[in-house]
Amino acid sequence: MMRTVTLIATAAMGLESVVANEVRNLGYEVEVDNGKVIFDAPISAIPRCNLWLRTADRVKILVGEFQATTFDELFEGTKHLPWEEYIPEDGQFPVSGKSVKSELHSVPDCQKIVKKSIAEKLKLKHGVVYKMPETGAIYKIEVSILKDIATLTIDTSGTGLHKRGYRVGQGEAPLKETMAAALILLTNWKPDDPFIDPFCGSGTIPIEAALIGQNIAPGFNRDFVSEEWPLIKKKHWEKAFEEAEDQANYDQKLFITGSDIDHKMINIAENNAIEAGLGDLVTWKQMQVNDLSIKANNGYIVGNPPYGQRLSDKESVEEIYRGLGKVMEQHPSWSVYILTAYEEFEKAYGKNATKKRKLFNGFIQTNYYQYFGERS
Ligand SMILES: C[S@@+](CC[C@H](N)C(=O)[O-])C[C@H]1O[C@@H](n2cnc3c(N)ncnc32)[C@H](O)[C@@H]1O
Repeated sequence: MMRTVTLIATAAMGLESVVANEVRNLGYEVEVDNGKVIFDAPISAIPRCNLWLRTADRVKILVGEFQATTFDELFEGTKHLPWEEYIPEDGQFPVSGKSVKSELHSVPDCQKIVKKSIAEKLKLKHGVVYKMPETGAIYKIEVSILKDIATLTIDTSGTGLHKRGYRVGQGEAPLKETMAAALILLTNWKPDDPFIDPFCGSGTIPIEAALIGQNIAPGFNRDFVSEEWPLIKKKHWEKAFEEAEDQANYDQKLFITGSDIDHKMINIAENNAIEAGLGDLVTWKQMQVNDLSIKANNGYIVGNPPYGQRLSDKESVEEIYRGLGKVMEQHPSWSVYILTAYEEFEKAYGKNATKKRKLFNGFIQTNYYQYFGERS
């Protein structure tokens, strides 16, 4: 029987339920907590989750959890865990840490103790007499202490999952790819529906929509640190990549447009789409939002306009929002989804949202304003 592991898919605050749905869609039962989704799964879930999760930040193995209010408890609790089942004799195991509302608050000391404890356990189990060589694959360990409970994990992703590998260029305030995917998954958009991002910048939202529309695995063009681990047999990776190839629907027609007032951004977005292998799937246009011309019905606008904080001032953002509101007034069958930190968005747009959702774009608290179209 295939070995089972406990996995944690980490999520930006506010996106836990979106990540949980994605994990459920891969066939695993989940428990949702602050900033994370926890689930037991066979080892083959590691390649599958890394390849497919569009909105999670990372996939980690939960090695163990225990109470630790003293350094002794931290040392012994760590040593008690079966590290040798994950880390081979030559594995490199750097340790990072964090501590919140706990007795053990010196993070550098906690890291040192965990490192020493794991080294002792591995030496004992692998029969190493001197120092662990640490010349092989990387097993990034995190000790996270919250209210005196230490959680020890190993990262399976490597570079964060938002790095799909296609964003060769970007503008001043790019959206993380994971957040862009979440904004789309929070709508009812289906691949046959028209889709416009009128503030596309480097193109993240339209590119993520195209990947979702053709069911292309977001991790298809990148590497993951755990591909080097003996723990996960090559056949599991091969199967996961085969599955991704089989599931992709390259024949799906898409009606996605990205536009932006800045022609430089349109060039960047076009290049990013080519890098993602989606060159001819998205229509790119240099255009200001007031000139948006919409012909079809029942479409979706998803956008991340300037907030006023970082890119421009109050008056000019209000004008942009007013412009969008005026255009969309003519198209009641369209649904509009706008992410902004600007508190008075609805006033400037000219209409109260059907629904609002608080989301963090990095450290900036934003609202996702959702206007449901009256389908015609
Ligand atoms: C926050 S950025 C969008 C970033 C984008 N989501 C990305 O991931 O790169 C906002 C974009 O709105 C564009 N913009 C500003 N005023 C505009 C207007 N009046 N009409 C259309 N686009 C505008 C800017 O050029 C900028 O690229």
